[in-house]
Amino acid sequence: MATIQLRTSIPGPKSKVLAERRNAAVPRGLSHGTPIYVAKAQDAWMEDVDGNRYIDFAGGIGCLNVGHRQEPVLSAVREQLDKFLHTCVQVTPYENYVRLAERMNEVTPGKFPKKTLFVNTGAEAVENAVKIARAHTGRPSIIAFEDAFHGRTMMTLALTSKTHPYKAGFAPFPSDVYRIPYAYCYRCSYSMKYPSCDLFCARHLEDTFKRVVASEDVAAVIAEPVLGEGGFVVPPPDFYRVLIEICHKHGVLFIADEVQSGFGRTGTLFASEHYGIEPDILVSAKSIGGGLPLAAITGRAEIMDAPGPGGLGGTFAGNPVSCAAALAVLDLFDRENLLVRANEVGNHFQKRATEWQKHWPIIGDVRGLGGMQAIELVKSRETREPAPDETKQITQYCYEHGLITITAGSYSNVIRVLVPLVVTDEQMDEALDVLESALKTVYEKTGAVAQPV
Ligand SMILES: Cc1ncc(COP(=O)(O)O)c(C=O)c1O
Repeated sequence: MATIQLRTSIPGPKSKVLAERRNAAVPRGLSHGTPIYVAKAQDAWMEDVDGNRYIDFAGGIGCLNVGHRQEPVLSAVREQLDKFLHTCVQVTPYENYVRLAERMNEVTPGKFPKKTLFVNTGAEAVENAVKIARAHTGRPSIIAFEDAFHGRTMMTLALTSKTHPYKAGFAPFPSDVYRIPYAYCYRCSYSMKYPSCDLFCARHLEDTFKRVVASEDVAAVIAEPVLGEGGFVVPPPDFYRVLIEICHKHGVLFIADEVQSGFGRTGTLFASEHYGIEPDILVSAKSIGGGLPLAAITGRAEIMDAPGPGGLGGTFAGNPVSCAAALAVLDLFDRENLLVRANEVGNHFQKRATEWQKHWPIIGDVRGLGGMQAIELVKSRETREPAPDETKQITQYCYEHGLITITAGSYSNVIRVLVPLVVTDEQMDEALDVLESALKTVYEKTGAVAQPV
């Protein structure tokens, strides 16, 4: 039986009533990708309050790599519910926090001694990574990338690149943040081509130390190994190796923000593994908690120990229920071949998307790593002018036809795939059929004629 089942037009009557209540009660600054209200979710699907069933390509923005409501995660949570919900780890600690820290120290890249701190959200984890890097190096500055997204708190907004809707109107931000171009080969800031560019963008860090900020003032360079909100951009294989060599030559730390690219999304537990790199500090969040809020900062032991006692923490940071869920998530990765599945899901998408690209020039780029896949939409292949309006129309068509998708990219012209990795092949085909007819419908509406490439 098909997973997608639509009983009402979208949004249905109950969702419409909720939207009215929401408009009166909740600020407009919190926007919604879709106008439907969810009633339940399982594996890779969700059902709304009107009984419409959708395939979920958003996974709570990458928080459900293991799938909605997986039984081992639910059991671990139930077991913890029967013990205690909260004590505050800074008052009376508990064993599952320590056990999870031990597991994180084992599974993150690098054989050196490590330590892990838990907090609640990705942004909070990035904030703490910056605090720790500053405490360790005694230096103030952080270098971040164009197209980066690191969160919505003030420091992480300073690190984030996209102006609208994230930063505009919220200044001033913390100082001592510097920005350099990312290895976004499809839109190279230097108009060069890989590999003949010889990784100019990575090597340019030396120049930044001369012309922008002195290396002895820089605590860390922070990067997403694969850009998340910035559009699922995958740098060339040697990019990070070259970048980190330059960092270390100058005593600068490298922080990998794996909030979105981590926890199995790319076919390895962390995307850093694809590049053969060992970040000094690695930040994880989202899918680590299997749907519950949790984030981790893992790093070299001597770096993590730089802040003194009491310098790190938070009332709910490393909540025992979330820790129990995360331990179950790690077990699931060990048992269920989810990393293999991430690659299968990614290949499935790539195969269909590269076929579409032959027919519809609106698809400028198909890219991704493992199960972290995306298409970038353009008005013209020649000019690469972004097509944000068409992208919006495609996502709207998708949810009206039973597929929840979300966009990304500094130009809001990327459609990304963050489907739970437990999705079946049949569900993938069903979902991709919807995306295909969305592309066809929107492309034909632009008045263009499908062209073979
Ligand atoms: C790479 C990256 N870093 C940090 C964050 C912020 O995480 P949170 O929304 O949990 O604060 C996100 C969220 O999308 C992200 O993708």
